[in-house]
Formats: sequence, C-alpha cells, structure tokens
Amino acid sequence: MIKVLGKVLESIVSILGGEKRRKKDLRVISAADIRVGMKVRIPLNWFRHPFWKSTVYIRNQEDVERILALELPFLLEVVDRKDTQPGKDAGESERPEDDKEAMTAEDDVAGEVHETDRSLSASASSVPEKKAFSAKVHHLKVQQCQKAYHEKLVEIKKLIQGVLSFSEETVKEANRTIEVMVSSLLADPEAVVFLINAKKKADVIFHHALNTCMLALLLGRDAGLTGESLCHLGVGVLFHDIGKLRIPKSILYKEKPLTPAEKQFYRLHPDYGVEIASRVSGISPEATMIIRDHHELLDGTGYPRGLTEKEINTLVRITTIVNLYDNYCNPRNPERAFTPHAALAHMYRKLSQKLDRLLLERFIRLMGVFPPGTLVELNTGDVGVVIARAHWSPKHVSVMLYDPNVPSSKAPIVSIGESPEVKIIRSLRPADIPPEVYQYLSPSFRVSYMLDTWTK
Ligand SMILES: [Fe+2]
Repeated sequence: MIKVLGKVLESIVSILGGEKRRKKDLRVISAADIRVGMKVRIPLNWFRHPFWKSTVYIRNQEDVERILALELPFLLEVVDRKDTQPGKDAGESERPEDDKEAMTAEDDVAGEVHETDRSLSASASSVPEKKAFSAKVHHLKVQQCQKAYHEKLVEIKKLIQGVLSFSEETVKEANRTIEVMVSSLLADPEAVVFLINAKKKADVIFHHALNTCMLALLLGRDAGLTGESLCHLGVGVLFHDIGKLRIPKSILYKEKPLTPAEKQFYRLHPDYGVEIASRVSGISPEATMIIRDHHELLDGTGYPRGLTEKEINTLVRITTIVNLYDNYCNPRNPERAFTPHAALAHMYRKLSQKLDRLLLERFIRLMGVFPPGTLVELNTGDVGVVIARAHWSPKHVSVMLYDPNVPSSKAPIVSIGESPEVKIIRSLRPADIPPEVYQYLSPSFRVSYMLDTWTK
C-alpha cells in the first residue's frame, strides 16, 4: 500500500513538474474566503465530501454553501503563478472539464491532508518557502484535529453520563459512536497520530476515556481484530473507568499517595463499573469483562481478582496496556508524569512480566520510540516536541521546534522522514530544558491524541 502510494505521489510530482502543471500553484486560504469562480482543493478524502473530485471549480453559491458546511479550517486554492489574485483562476482554460485528465492521479490521493502537504512541498519553489508552507499547513491540520477532539470529548462525556443514569438509548448511541470510529479507522490505514493541546483541566475521566479508546482501537486493529471485536473493545474501553464516578473526588484527584484505606476504596471501581453496566442493557459481555478486568496483570498481581495469564482475555490485555500508558503520561499529580518516551521505556523494561509482551511490542511500534508529546533534541542542536507520527512509517515524524523569534502557533516544524540530514538524537525530560522553552513546547496540561482522518 505504501509502495503504491509512493508511486502515485511520484506521479503527482511528475505531473506538477510537467508542462501542464508548471503554471499552477497552491495557496492555503481560509474557508471564509472562498467565492464563486475560484478553484479549490478540499483537504479531505473524496468520500468525506459531497463533490466528485477533491479539486472543485466553484460554480455557484450552492457550491460555496456545500464547502462551508464541511467546516474546514482551511482549503487550498489552485492559482496561476502569473496571476495570484484570488478568483482570477476561473478562466475558460481552467474549467474542470478541460483538465480532467491532468487532475486524475492527483485527485485520487491529494484529498488527504497529509498527502496534500507532500504535494504542496513538491510545488514550493525554495527550501525556506517549502518549510514555511509545510509549517503553516501543519499548524492548520493540528487545529483541525483539536476541534475534532474537543467535539468527540463532548460526545463521550454525554455517553458516560447517560450510562451513569442507566439510559439504554445512550448505550445504543455509544455502540453507534464506536461503530463509526471503527469503520473510520478500518477505512484509513494511514491515519496519522497527532498530539492534541488539551487545555481544559476539568473532565479528566472523559479525556482518559477518549484517549484510551482511540489508542486501544489502533492497537486492536494492528493486532488483527475484526470489526465486531473492535466494537466490543471500543465500548469496553470507553466505559472501563465508569465505576470511578462513584469514588469520592477527594480520593480520585488526590495528588499525594493514597493511604491503604483510600487505595482499597479506589480499587473497588472495577466492581462498581460492573454493577453500573449490569443495570443497563446493551453493554456486551465482552465490554463488561473489560470494565471488570482492566487492572488485572498477567503475573497475578493485579486487582480486583488477581487473575493470571490464562484467565485474561486479549481485549483486556490491550486495554491494560493503553490504560497504563495514559496513566503514566497523565497521572493525578502532574509532577510525576512520565514523558511518552519514558512511559513506553518503563513499561518495556519493568512491566514485561505483567503485560502481554507481543502486544506491548506492537504498541511501541505503533507509537514509535519517540511518541507524539515527547520532548526531543535534534542533531542540529534544536529542541522540539514530537507533534505527529505516521504509525505506518517509522520515519514519518513531525517535530515542532523552539524558536524564540516566533510565537508557538507559528513555530517551525521539521518532518524527520523528509529531511534525512536531520535526526532525533535523544528524548528530553522537562527538567532538562529551561522553563520558558518547556512552556513554549508543552502548553497542554495532558498528553492526548487524535487521528487526523477522524476529523470528518
Ligand atoms: Fe481503572
């Protein structure tokens, strides 16, 4: 698949470099700036928008409305380099009927945002221009993912609160939500894992539910689970900590270590969760099993029942890994947080007897040695934070760099896989860098993820 994509991208570059494409360029514009007569490229897969191609000649106000309804933070305007005024690209020779042939290969793949980014890079005329253009698109992509993440968070909160009040309709809704997430995931094998700047400090339980759900589905798919199993996994992980909502907040959010009595109370949350699930129909036995067993460990040291390896199902093993990972990265006391890199290293070195080794190795391959959210130092001397990773390619890692001359919203971004001379040499702890650099790179209060193709 990747080889095929590579060939198609090569053909795009060749088309862009050919006679017919030489006079064309692409410019990032706000969706609010579109008007009749423009030709724009929609940064979504073709099945995610209502047009028959991803490059659209806007013929009338109805087309404008259909594009605005997609709620895209940006589009790409196809412009002629001789005349860069918006809207001047609508001459007869630019009508879609005239260039169907030339656009075919391009349109097949250029709809996807990260792919568009690469074709943009190919058309940029100089290295600095290319980098600035890429950074701008990347920041816009992150904004798009953040919007989708926060919309999903609102949805998840409604579902969890609905189940707490034993609403059967909510369980049906939760099953439908997970089905949509699973089908999107199965349809987009090359989705990119993005770091989300989650600023809202409330609703920690809902952030945890969404984050673990997404990571569990990613790992489950990689482990070869089918659609039905993935749905059971998704619903189970979505509700795995629902019993925590019966634990007093003084224990749940306590930053100091829990007393033995508080720990004992806290450890009741899987049983509370099962009790809640049993009072509302529609939650599958597999999902209930995940709620009950998600703190069980293969060496028998887990709780509440101290199960051993043979008694712990694959769905539970997946949940345990992503649950621990998210808890290490986002603990009750933020000062004790592991960086994503350190969390994986710790799990691999210290917990390999307790976790499913093969699944853990799969998870590390998916997230990378330097998962999004990891502070890193490059061989150029730059310091940055990993903000995105294509799990299908270990080389495709995007790093946002510290640059005191620009605000972090415009910080330079380097794509490690596309710049062979640039390498990550080590991960950094927050204590390794000055506070102002840490603040610039990590304004988020927690490490959260979103897949870019789940934005629509
Ligand atoms: Fe839990």
